[in-house]
Amino acid sequence: MSEFLNNIIKSVKDYFNKKEESVLGIDISSSSIKVVQLRKKRGKAILETYGEISLGAYANVENGRATKLSTQKITEALSDLLRESKVTAKKCGVAVPLSSSLLKIIKIPSVSERQLKEIVPIEARKYIPVPATEVLLDWNIIPKETSYSEEGEAQKADKIEVMIVAIHKEIINMYTDVLSQNNLESSFFEIELFATTRSVLSRGIRPVMIFDFGVSTTKLYVVEGGIIRESHIVNRGSQDLTLALSKSLGISFDEAEGSKRTTGLTRETDNEEDVSESTSAIMEYIFSEVEKTIIGYQIRYNKSIVKIILTGGGMLLKNIVDRTSEKFKIEVELANPFRKVEAPAFLEEVLKRAGPEFAVAVGIALRKLEEMD
Ligand SMILES: Nc1ncnc2c1ncn2[C@@H]1O[C@H](COP(=O)(O)OP(=O)(O)OP(=O)(O)O)[C@@H](O)[C@H]1O
Ligand SMILES: [Mg+2]
Repeated sequence: MSEFLNNIIKSVKDYFNKKEESVLGIDISSSSIKVVQLRKKRGKAILETYGEISLGAYANVENGRATKLSTQKITEALSDLLRESKVTAKKCGVAVPLSSSLLKIIKIPSVSERQLKEIVPIEARKYIPVPATEVLLDWNIIPKETSYSEEGEAQKADKIEVMIVAIHKEIINMYTDVLSQNNLESSFFEIELFATTRSVLSRGIRPVMIFDFGVSTTKLYVVEGGIIRESHIVNRGSQDLTLALSKSLGISFDEAEGSKRTTGLTRETDNEEDVSESTSAIMEYIFSEVEKTIIGYQIRYNKSIVKIILTGGGMLLKNIVDRTSEKFKIEVELANPFRKVEAPAFLEEVLKRAGPEFAVAVGIALRKLEEMD
């Protein structure tokens, strides 16, 4: 047989023999664990299953509250979730919370690759507030075409931009334990904002903001040309709205959580004013941080943010999409990460609704799937 024909037959064989294994994306967040299982079929990402488990019961607190759990409790919760969601995949990736990480873009002289290996860790130390032995350090050179000087001009060749990423070893060790006790094999730990960016962003080079409204914190990212240029954590989250409702209406946390989900923040009651005052103060605080980030970016880079993408379960709140777009007068979009995977048509509405909560898990699963190619 000719060499040519031989090669074709081999590649066709490889194609059919290639194991199209299922993969799992895991997001262990403060109030729940979320998983998404995908498989590749004819080049497309197919959604096989997904699920979420609230952590309240494992921490003896109400569902919807942020928790801080032991390795054993998280192991138990993940095990329950895997069973309930009928997860079969063993190969996975896991998200690391932004709060256990540090991310910074630094500028350093343009030197050889070898010298970089020496310089970057030394420079990175200046920004990492904990001993070197406690973190895992990684870094990446930012491609020139997406680099900017402080004045917003393309940067000169004598400096390069490097993104440094540090993750607390403590959390990696904990997750490693949780996974091995659940017979899962993980090949990477990825900071949640990279996963979210992958799952909620469509192609585009202009600066956009990702606004993740979580339980105890809100996270703001600015992404330009696929590069995350800024990230901020705001110490207010959707749980604060529940607490405010509970206090002003004189109801339990559980009742307030339910009421927030069904009625939202506006209601016709005797205490309407108290409710609107306390919840508005929280929203105004978060919005003011969003505004600061938008203006700060504009000043630093002389560029306007063209769109805000809303994600995180907090964004399921009634009227929040309209409220955000009224406030900032720029395009606002509710994240729909499941758009990047194939699923039965009858699930479309359900997945659209679940999307904001699953953005991190979908992003992790998509990366794992790419890795299997
Ligand atoms: N329909 C709804 N209306 C209002 N809020 C909702 C609704 N559904 C969920 N939420 C809120 O979303 C929050 C959960 O969001 P999410 O799952 O993104 O948080 P998390 O990932 O656990 O938090 P973090 O990322 O801060 O660790 C809860 O505070 C919950 O009350
Ligand atoms: Mg989250």
